Amino acid sequence: MKITKICCIGAGYVGGPTMAVIAKKNPNIKVTIVDINEERIAAWNDKDVSKLPIYEPGLAEIVEETRGKNLFFSTDIDETIRESEMIFISVNTPTKTYGKGKGMAADLKYVELCARNIAEVATTDKIVVEKSTLPVRTAQAIKSILHNTGNDVKFEILSNPEFLAEGTAIQDLLNPDRVLIGGESEDAIESLANVYGSWVPQDRILRTNVWSSELSKLTANAFLAQRISSINAISELCEHTEANVNEVAKAIGMDSRIGPKFLNASIGFGGSCFQKDILNLVYIARSYGLNAVADYWEQVIILNDHQKRRFSDHLISTLYNTVSGKKIAMLGWAFKKDTNDTRESAAIYVADHLLNEQAHIAVYDPKVNSKKVQGDLNYLNTRSAEENNELVTSFDEPYETAKDAHAIAIMTEWDEFKTYDWQKIYDNMKKPAFIFDGRNILNKTEMETIGFEYSSIGK
Ligand code: NAD
Ligand code: UDX
Repeated sequence: MKITKICCIGAGYVGGPTMAVIAKKNPNIKVTIVDINEERIAAWNDKDVSKLPIYEPGLAEIVEETRGKNLFFSTDIDETIRESEMIFISVNTPTKTYGKGKGMAADLKYVELCARNIAEVATTDKIVVEKSTLPVRTAQAIKSILHNTGNDVKFEILSNPEFLAEGTAIQDLLNPDRVLIGGESEDAIESLANVYGSWVPQDRILRTNVWSSELSKLTANAFLAQRISSINAISELCEHTEANVNEVAKAIGMDSRIGPKFLNASIGFGGSCFQKDILNLVYIARSYGLNAVADYWEQVIILNDHQKRRFSDHLISTLYNTVSGKKIAMLGWAFKKDTNDTRESAAIYVADHLLNEQAHIAVYDPKVNSKKVQGDLNYLNTRSAEENNELVTSFDEPYETAKDAHAIAIMTEWDEFKTYDWQKIYDNMKKPAFIFDGRNILNKTEMETIGFEYSSIGK
């Protein structure tokens, strides 16, 4: 099928950047991103591209170049589905918070609503592409919904999981390691391969069956997260043995079978994907009675929770076993640098733990505002919104954030943190002044020369 119009349902962290790049590289295809969230669509249409709902380096420039030409953002979902030959489903698939599989399984209600919406309004044949991360065999359910519409419309279903990482989304999309397309119909697979083929070399476009494609996405995230939990486990051992986790990571990473990437010890991985996708993998394995497989992968999450917890425990014990009434300055709230996304950020859990000990928290993140910080804490439901508001204050620069603080906790590896006048920060803090570097980004000797009591992960 020749593709002239694409619809993407879901204008989020995946739908927005992915479609912007598809539009840029396919000027002859009209790409429309639709969403039920009117506020989000309005922000995508804001004339001032610094107000786009998502911060990603390079994204604003591409949106500016393509928007209104062949890239559109709209809330008219039905009409966009009707006019498009290819429809991407790129909606959220969070962990279920209710019913069977609560806390483990992926909640597929948004995906199912999309399938029903497509089935209801489509009047011509469509290729439906699963872009959301879905449990293996979901395409079966989508197929069943689409094929029971009672009209004559034919649907082909493809799985095309997205591998971009936030903060580097545009580079990842422009130069992907691979594009994965799973499907039954060769014709449909080639239609999608042609869309990517306008910039991705054909040998990097991998064709598989639908189930391999769905399962590969969960597996990729599980393997990546496993590396972080592995190095984090070693970081704790380093702290007891005077080994240095950075040196260990470098030494093992030079083995070409291991490789150097994803070996940065940290306060623990965050983000909307790793935990959700591993829990989903564990749930699927258990549902097939594969308990050894499920237990194996679950350990990655258990270790990650342990890492976040031991970071805050260490902070509390170092501050003479009490943080009650003390000001703790948190630098960084996003789950990693170069994004405004805070989903599952380790900062949220560390802050929550410190608040349970009656600490006062001051937050500064270059891209995260106070509303989001409060919203993240309120979502945990540990204490009232009023209490969170009273105990947690956001600042728009680092020096006021750290003023009179007993300790600084580095939560995100933002580059700008390395460029601060640390002497000035030290001078205005309570003494002794502590730094807990959850990202290993500051220089220990330099910090100790200034006078800080400095500690980091795995050293
Ligand atoms: P997101 O929450 O940022 O965006 C999802 C959007 O879908 C929201 O704006 C929501 O309003 C919209 N939506 C939900 N139901 C809808 C409906 N019925 N009709 C129209 N719009 C609807 O989510 P995201 O981070 O973009 O993730 C989307 C999917 O991609 C998930 O399955 C996720 O696991 C996967 N994924 C995410 C990343 C990432 O880095 N964030 C990377 C790879 C894969
Ligand atoms: C991840 C996958 O990398 C991506 O392929 C997938 O499509 C979505 O999920 P993302 O969560 O956006 O991407 O970012 P990623 O770079 O993987 O980082 C995830 C978390 O792990 C962050 O909190 C990051 O700080 C942490 N991390 C990463 C480490 O702690 N150490 C590392 O060595 C690498």
